Amino acid sequence: MAAVITGLGGWLPPTVVTNDDLCGTLDTSDEWIRTRTGIQERRMVTGGLSTRDIAVEAGARALKSAGESRTDAVVVATTSADRLCPAVAPEVSHLLGLDTVAAFDLTSACSGFLYGLATSAGLIASGVAGSVLFIGAEAFTTLVNPADRNTAPIFGDGGGAVVLRAGQPDEMGAIGPFDLGSDGAKADLLAIPAGGSRQRAACGLGTDTVPTADWYLHMSGRPLYTQAVERMTASSRIALARAGWQVGDVAWFVGHQANARIVAAVAEELELPGERVAVNIDKVGNTLSASIPLLLTEYAARGDLRPGDRVLLAAFGAGLSWGATTLVWPKIVADSFR
Ligand code: UT7
Repeated sequence: MAAVITGLGGWLPPTVVTNDDLCGTLDTSDEWIRTRTGIQERRMVTGGLSTRDIAVEAGARALKSAGESRTDAVVVATTSADRLCPAVAPEVSHLLGLDTVAAFDLTSACSGFLYGLATSAGLIASGVAGSVLFIGAEAFTTLVNPADRNTAPIFGDGGGAVVLRAGQPDEMGAIGPFDLGSDGAKADLLAIPAGGSRQRAACGLGTDTVPTADWYLHMSGRPLYTQAVERMTASSRIALARAGWQVGDVAWFVGHQANARIVAAVAEELELPGERVAVNIDKVGNTLSASIPLLLTEYAARGDLRPGDRVLLAAFGAGLSWGATTLVWPKIVADSFR
């Protein structure tokens, strides 16, 4: 039994923050951000919006695209859930009117879409669920220090979702074989030190023992860059081999939007021409687990992704963690979110 994509959708919070907007508070420039990352603007949650709200908007659009009002399970990939406990997925399921179906979160940072897709496909393959609403949703800018020029320009908020149902491996839209990997020895390269069980603040005890910066993301950009290129390239090659595809078969490379230069470098390593590489980081920044479904939705809504196109998906992020898979694009209706 394979998991087949039958619907997809995306949503971005309305507040646009341009590079020039950031220059008001950070020692940076539009030129630096554009040339080093490819980002021109990103969306940020304001006015009390949270990951839950983003997930509901994206999930509703994916259900509409699939023509469904029911599903057997809701999986949310997020590294910026509304609260440490509980998971956000049960509330999302409730707000979507999906009643008391199975619902849980999965935390795999920028590889969240690949890990969540594999998990959702596993629920279907094992017979636990006949259909899954899988959402990647992030309000990660709330976890980034607005005074840190190394990280503040890079991340954006948003959500993307797919509906999966049980089907046959040779159907269009069937998710192909996966490659997934991790390297916990490099966990500190991208981490938020405080807030979890290892480093709690002395909340309510009168003194806060945790330095403010530790509540925010710490990132070692250069080593991550090298790892991202190496891991996404290697993982892509493994997924292609498992699918029995050649690089020349790939109509679209849909890679996690961490940095336009990283995506271009992976494509170059794989010898994929630029016109087969999907990119939207200029308008959304790095949206972690929402990155790939937002890209798929945008390209499908525009008609660039066409039924029968062979698609290679690859991602890399904190953990470290990475993954890749393949699918033949199905007949699907998706609405633009911009
Ligand atoms: O999502 C998956 C996980 N994340 C990643 O994979 C991120 C991977 N890394 C990257 O994308 C890049 O390393 C960054 C975009 C984060 C940084 O680009 P870089 O070309 O590697 O720059 P760098 O960190 O080596 O910094 C170069 C210089 C430094 O100044 P000095 O030491 O050479 O004087 C930085 O202080 O640029 C400086 N810099 C900035 N200058 C202006 C760093 N951030 C900024 C900024 N504006 N926003």
